[in-house]
This record gives sequence, structure tokens and C-alpha cells, in this order.
Amino acid sequence: MNTRQSGIRLAKRLDEVGFSGIVQVRNKVMAMRAEGLHVHSLHCGEPFFETPQEIKYAAVKALVENHTHYAPSSGLPPLRQALAAKLAVKNAIHVTEDEVIATVGGSQGLYAAFQSVIDPGDHVLVFSPYWTPIGDLVTLAQGRPLLVPTITARRNGIRKTLEQFSTPHTRAIYFNTPQNPSGLVFTRAEAEEVAAFAIERDLVVIADEAYEDLVYDGVHFSIAALPGMAERTITSFTFSKTYAMTGWRAGYTVAKEPFMTALRKIVLYSTNGVPTPVQYAMIQALSTPESEIAARREEYRRRRDLLVAALNDVGLECPPPAGAFYAFPNAEKINKNSRTAAQILLDKAHIATIPGSVFGAQGEGHLRFGYAIAIKEIEDCVDALRKFFA
Ligand SMILES: Cc1ncc(COP(=O)(O)O)c(C=O)c1O
Repeated sequence: MNTRQSGIRLAKRLDEVGFSGIVQVRNKVMAMRAEGLHVHSLHCGEPFFETPQEIKYAAVKALVENHTHYAPSSGLPPLRQALAAKLAVKNAIHVTEDEVIATVGGSQGLYAAFQSVIDPGDHVLVFSPYWTPIGDLVTLAQGRPLLVPTITARRNGIRKTLEQFSTPHTRAIYFNTPQNPSGLVFTRAEAEEVAAFAIERDLVVIADEAYEDLVYDGVHFSIAALPGMAERTITSFTFSKTYAMTGWRAGYTVAKEPFMTALRKIVLYSTNGVPTPVQYAMIQALSTPESEIAARREEYRRRRDLLVAALNDVGLECPPPAGAFYAFPNAEKINKNSRTAAQILLDKAHIATIPGSVFGAQGEGHLRFGYAIAIKEIEDCVDALRKFFA
């Protein structure tokens, strides 16, 4: 008998890597639309406004002026200088331009961070519910996510809970604030507890601050700004949410050595950098006045308040999320199983949401409603919800 395995097979490290449950919902919605049905799209995570004109013009100008050649794979020096200045002013993270690297969205920064830190068999503490791709990024790096229930951690003490879920193989903590899907914003005091634990156990923190500009209650705080944390934190940022640049694939990561050398290698050998015209658009985006960002935040707050009030009204209990652009109500009133609840809401009310279980076991019983859409669309969804529960 021939026991040789076929050569037409995948590398084993992909065995446990899944495809996002979010994509599955998106495909269902597309199929319903193809049938001519109107679907209320609350399953997405895309800003409601278009990329501002001046950012688009900066990319067009770069193209016309033939900035179409290779740029340094870590990013153009003026971009990295502008990023270092932004990090100092907005995040109290003081770095040189060599300690920041341009990435293809926040996603590439996170991919590179886990690849830089995780050895096979290492464990990563992940507050849960969590943004789904993180579990897969850890698995792709041949590590194992250890899910830490955020609610329990907040109730019983962050440090105590991290101690309880940690193992001798723990190497890193993934720290996302504001959080997707819950909208939770960790306080400075909570970040201090995470930092104290990381320092005590000699762990690396992989911080994800994709929604830093979307905090409605409280303030955004970067864990890398705490004493002793800059050298053990890799922080990923993105232009996707703040500037409505999801399709541009623009982000950046900040880290000290030895991590920066590893990030540079991974960016070099995966994409060899961010497309040059996109980097010019990033430079332009960084000059956006804070008042404009604040005005958009108020637009999001209106959407949040409208949706959250309606959810509570119909009995889907939902404390107002402090940040990001998602509401994460308890949906057990529809069905205890969140996949079934999402299916019922989609079939009967044509409202598309994401089942909470997609974001880890701690998300079960909940649905994620994305409210980064037009006010009118939220109002239509609210009407559909009220009819469904009438
Ligand atoms: C928590 C979180 N981190 C990172 C990202 C990465 O976004 P992008 O790759 O578009 O920059 C997202 C996008 O939805 C997110 O929700």
C-alpha cells in the first residue's frame, strides 16, 4: 500500500485556521439581495461616510506625479515622521520614526505582531468576546488563544483573572480597546493592571487600537504609554475607521527592538510595504483637524443612542457601548443560541447581524449590530425591529 501523502495538500499549520463567520453572514445577505429582498445591513463594520476628498486627491496627485515606484518597505520617511508626531501628541507614545512601520491595514500589523512573538505551543491571553480574526492569527502562528472572559475580569479584578487563566506557556496578551464586538473601553486603571501583570510575568502585549478615535464615554488610553511598557508592547493602528479608508488597506504598527526588526522582515517578505500612492494619502489623512474627527464621533454617538434606545425598548438588553461602532445586546429573547437568533432575525425581519458566538464562547447569547450606517437606515431597522417584536 502506498502510504505516501499526496503532495496536493496544505501545510499543517493551516489545519485549525478558520474562515471568519462574518464572511458567511455577508454571503447570505448577498444571496438575499440577489433575490431582490431589502436587507437591513447591521452586520458590517464600515464607516458611514466616504473617504474625505482631500485624502483621495493626495493619492491622485501622487499618481500623477509618478510616485508609483518602490518606497522603503517600512514606509516613506515623511510618513513615519508624521506618525511618530501623532503618536507623541495623541497617544503619549514617544518613539523615533524608526520605531513605527507602515502596514497594509491594521490586519497586517497584527499578523506581523503575532508572527514576531509566538513560537509553536505558546499561549496568548485574549479578552473575550474578541474580534474573530485574532484567534486565527494566533493559531496561524502555531500558538493557542486562552480566552479570558472580560465581564468576569471586570467584576473580579483584571489582574486576578489574568492570573487565573494564565499558564506556564503564556507568552503574550492581546489587548483591544475600544473593543470589537462589545464596544467596551478599558480604563487607564485597567490598562495599569494588565501592564503590571505583563511586567511581573515578562509577557509581551499586542495592543489593537483600531477604534481609538471612537470613544463616547471615557477616554482612549494607550497601554504602551505606561512606564516600562513601550519595550514590551507592539501596538497596531489603522486608518480604516477614523478616516473611512477600509479599502485603502492603510495602517501602522509601533514597537521597539527587537520586535521592529521582525516586523520589518515580515512586511518586507509579505507585501514589501504599502502601495506608494496610499502612503501619500496617509500623510494627508494625518493632517485632518481633530475637530473634524470629533464631529464624526458625535455623528456616531447619535447613531449609537438611536439604536441602543430601540434595542432596550424591544427588550434586547443593551448597556450603551462606550466606544467603537457596535451594539452587543443580549438576544436570548429571540433564541438562546445566537446563530439561531441571527437566522430568525434575518429571515423574519430582514435584519442582518453577527451571532455573538462568532466572537468566542463568551459572546454566546448576544448579537452584534453595527451602527456605522446612515441614520435613515438605522431608523428603518428600528421600525423593522419594533414590528418583529409587536
Ligand atoms: C478590533 C479590530 N482590529 C483591527 C481591525 C483591522 O482593520 P483593518 O485591517 O481594516 O485596518 C479591525 C477591523 O474591523 C478591528 O475590528
